[in-house]
Amino acid sequence: MKDFRKSVVYQVYPKSFYDTNGDGLGDLNGVTEKLDYIKELGADYIWMTPFFVSPQKDNGYDVEDYYNIDPRYGTMEDFDRLAAEAEKRGIGLMLDMVFNHTSSRNEWFQKALAGDEKYKNYYIFRKGKENGEPPTNWESKFGGSAWEYVPAFDEYYLHLFDVSQPDLNWDNPEVREQVEAVVRFWMKKGVKGFRFDVVNLISKGSFEDDYEGDGRRFYTDGPNIHKYLQELNEKTFGAEKGIVTVGEMSSTSMENCFRYASEDGKELSMVFSFHHLKVDFAGNEKWVLVPADFQKLKKILFGWQSGMAEHHAWNAVFWCNHDQPRVVSRFGDEEKYWKQSAKMLGTAIHCLRGTPYVYQGEELGMTNTDFTDISQYRDVESINYYRILQEKGLRPADAFRIIQIHSRDNGRTPMQWDAGANAGFTTAEEPWIGVNANHTAVNAAAELADEDSIFHHYQKLIRLRKELDVIAYGDFAPVDEKNGQILAYKRSLEGHTLLVVNNFYGRPVKWTCPEELEGFSCILSNYPDSRVEREMELRPFESVVLYR
Ligand code: GLC
Ligand code: CA
Repeated sequence: MKDFRKSVVYQVYPKSFYDTNGDGLGDLNGVTEKLDYIKELGADYIWMTPFFVSPQKDNGYDVEDYYNIDPRYGTMEDFDRLAAEAEKRGIGLMLDMVFNHTSSRNEWFQKALAGDEKYKNYYIFRKGKENGEPPTNWESKFGGSAWEYVPAFDEYYLHLFDVSQPDLNWDNPEVREQVEAVVRFWMKKGVKGFRFDVVNLISKGSFEDDYEGDGRRFYTDGPNIHKYLQELNEKTFGAEKGIVTVGEMSSTSMENCFRYASEDGKELSMVFSFHHLKVDFAGNEKWVLVPADFQKLKKILFGWQSGMAEHHAWNAVFWCNHDQPRVVSRFGDEEKYWKQSAKMLGTAIHCLRGTPYVYQGEELGMTNTDFTDISQYRDVESINYYRILQEKGLRPADAFRIIQIHSRDNGRTPMQWDAGANAGFTTAEEPWIGVNANHTAVNAAAELADEDSIFHHYQKLIRLRKELDVIAYGDFAPVDEKNGQILAYKRSLEGHTLLVVNNFYGRPVKWTCPEELEGFSCILSNYPDSRVEREMELRPFESVVLYR
């Protein structure tokens, strides 16, 4: 049985990973074919984003049928083969469970719309206000009202995401039973873990207008959330040893995460929180151009590191996923210091206390898209906001610039396997979403052949976590926290110390290490000749890991 604290998870977005039948969409067989690649990187688990039957309005986060594979991705036989082949390689599959909402095409919702009271109570229907407005002024996360009017009932249903993603009513015990049955079904298939999509939104509080924000304070980390997670745990994955779980926690608080991810194991193994990825937002407003606030980034990352440790709770640590821009474009310098900055960012995350997640292509230093026209985008949120920003008065070019920087499609272009046509992702003429032209330089084949590549740096980071207990289990302490250019921290365990020093900028910096460095040696760096000295001169994006 694996210890999730010593493990690393690789996230696969199957649609963009590898296409084996030439239809332009990645598929399950594509993941099976590339298992050796993931094995070579060193990952212990693969988190696969949803491949269940779905109209794909939100790329599978709109589930029509939780028990079947969408034919676009393959068949149940393909899935069984993938699970078996992964297991042979010592890799566990983690599936993505989307239970805050279903697709509107889900049988339950179809029955609800047909007026079946039992199924109406699976969802959240409410009367509008006297004045003809929706029940509350809450905004959907993808733009517009969170309520959709159904004339036949003269009622609205709640959808915190797209109109095609109605929210489930977790206060109905039958809904909870249905969800538990789904989890048990996939456990029986040999799945080793689960990621629960926006799971801290499942317990709705009071349905009130929000005069301070978009409504999230009324349904985030809601009144019964801990109860529901504990129940899910007891009735499903908690009953089997060795199942790893991670909850995606939208706009959460650390106090709640102490409980979600407590080592007592009553709820989940760990949590994703996103505050450190809003340092280039204006508050919660993502659709603006704001330079990343480095001090804020450190404060949040370090605050969560110390806070969660103090409360014996476990973090997932990450920069990237299918909802985030590429980190080398975001916090690094993809042009001048592509390799150095990608490696530095990898080091900064992987040596933290928590389970690291690597998102497909991150280990290659894949960058944001090179799209120049809105027609190239596929993501519902990006397309909506391109329109909404213009409705707010922005000129098309300015709206487009914001989409280019923040779009989720930045992380969704096809995996760059080689320098050939469509980066080796598909033999189809047109993949479902455009391939980045830089695949001629940024690709797996080139990096596997280069000892000094970003891929091999990530491979070393993953190996180090397995070799050094201090990385998996050590205490965390910030170092020179106020420094305006350096992100440094210390890990310690039973006389072993790890000191991680990262220059976060593309200019050199002189730095005096507050620690005595006697006995330390440099075990990892992103420059060929880093030395261990108290008076350091760190080069652009230089990153060193010192160990004693
Ligand atoms: C999560 C998923 C995202 C999806 C949303 C709604 O945030 O990661 O891709 O759009 O939930 O399911
Ligand atoms: Ca395919």
